[in-house]
Amino acid sequence: MSELITVPVALGERSYDVIIGDGALETGMDRLGPLCPRRRAFIAADAAALAAHGKRLRAGLNAAGLEPVIFEIEGGERAKTWTGVERLVEALLEAGIERSECLIAFGGGTIGDLAGFAAAVTKRGVGFVQIPTTLLAQVDSSVGGKTGINTASGKNLAGAFHQPALVIADTGLLASLPEREIRAGYAEIAKAGLIADAELFARLESAGAGALTGDALTRAAADAVAFKARIVAEDEREGGVRALLNLGHTFGHAFEAEAAKGALVHGEAVAAGMSLAFRYSVRLGVCPQAEADRVDAHLRAVGLPASGAELPGGPYQADRLVARMGSDKKNRGGAITLILARAVGEAYITPCEDAADLAAFLDEDLRTG
Ligand SMILES: NC(=O)c1ccc[n+]([C@@H]2O[C@H](COP(=O)([O-])OP(=O)(O)OC[C@H]3O[C@@H](n4cnc5c(N)ncnc54)[C@H](O)[C@@H]3O)[C@@H](O)[C@H]2O)c1
Repeated sequence: MSELITVPVALGERSYDVIIGDGALETGMDRLGPLCPRRRAFIAADAAALAAHGKRLRAGLNAAGLEPVIFEIEGGERAKTWTGVERLVEALLEAGIERSECLIAFGGGTIGDLAGFAAAVTKRGVGFVQIPTTLLAQVDSSVGGKTGINTASGKNLAGAFHQPALVIADTGLLASLPEREIRAGYAEIAKAGLIADAELFARLESAGAGALTGDALTRAAADAVAFKARIVAEDEREGGVRALLNLGHTFGHAFEAEAAKGALVHGEAVAAGMSLAFRYSVRLGVCPQAEADRVDAHLRAVGLPASGAELPGGPYQADRLVARMGSDKKNRGGAITLILARAVGEAYITPCEDAADLAAFLDEDLRTG
């Protein structure tokens, strides 16, 4: 077992801790007791994570004197539907969950988003705990209280803000995660550096592919969580600065919406999206080319895509992507909201002034990479 790092998320009476590291599961169990007053642990569990780590999860709960009530769910975007919420809420009600009790998400970002939404609406809000089992969920989606599902109109368009009371991010749970998912989660760590922590990004650059394993990964994950915690504490409901966390996502969500079903992993779309955001910033004359080159070089060094042309799930069309970007929920007054950058660590939010130019840029990227 290596060192555990605890990152506080300061939100007044809704403050909570994120415990990160190999072995966090067992340590975190002691903190679960007070959140489960009837000694029952209701768990929405990703089927793959449960198959790999169910024994350990159950042993930890038993040692903490908690009885597991497990709802097994196939993870992935297919979980984030109205039907998925309905099933989970009905199952919780049938099991007799009380408002003073909590639902625990044991899975990746999709299970966390679904379970968080179910927790927010069941009896107008039961407690919520996250035990993220993918790197993306550990460094990003489990922290900050955004929950939700996809709708026919797009990704994450229905949901609620519902903060967890505790996040237990055990990096040991990542041992069973496919390498592609590790790299995808890493994109969100790199994102933290690119938005506003140039020192973090420089550390990641010098670690190269080594940043994806062992203690280096735990430290980088904790840095990314601490960064997100600061932003969330400043702007919990995304009235302003929190929108910076969407760096790479406006482009990325458009690719995800257009991709062949199941072909694209969220973090890959975000990685390509971050590269596009930096290169579009160069095109607009606000960012030096060398900074965008650093971004692409690091993404490629860790095996992530650095352009739309490198993404699986195509072919993609620039005009369709821009149309998708036009329905993003961050948009204001009809204009696409972009997160661009003046340099590594200096992202900013701006409306897109020229959608035709954006389409031309994307078209070029798709043809030449
Ligand atoms: N709420 C937020 O703030 C926020 C932020 C970023 C992303 N998200 C959302 O997160 C989702 C993506 O999350 P994700 O990348 O974790 O995907 P995911 O939940 O689909 O998990 C990826 C895959 O890994 C499997 N899996 C999970 N844990 C495993 C383990 N330990 N071992 C083996 N397999 C395992 C799952 O079954 C799934 O097939 C997207 O829907 C995105 O919108 C939410």
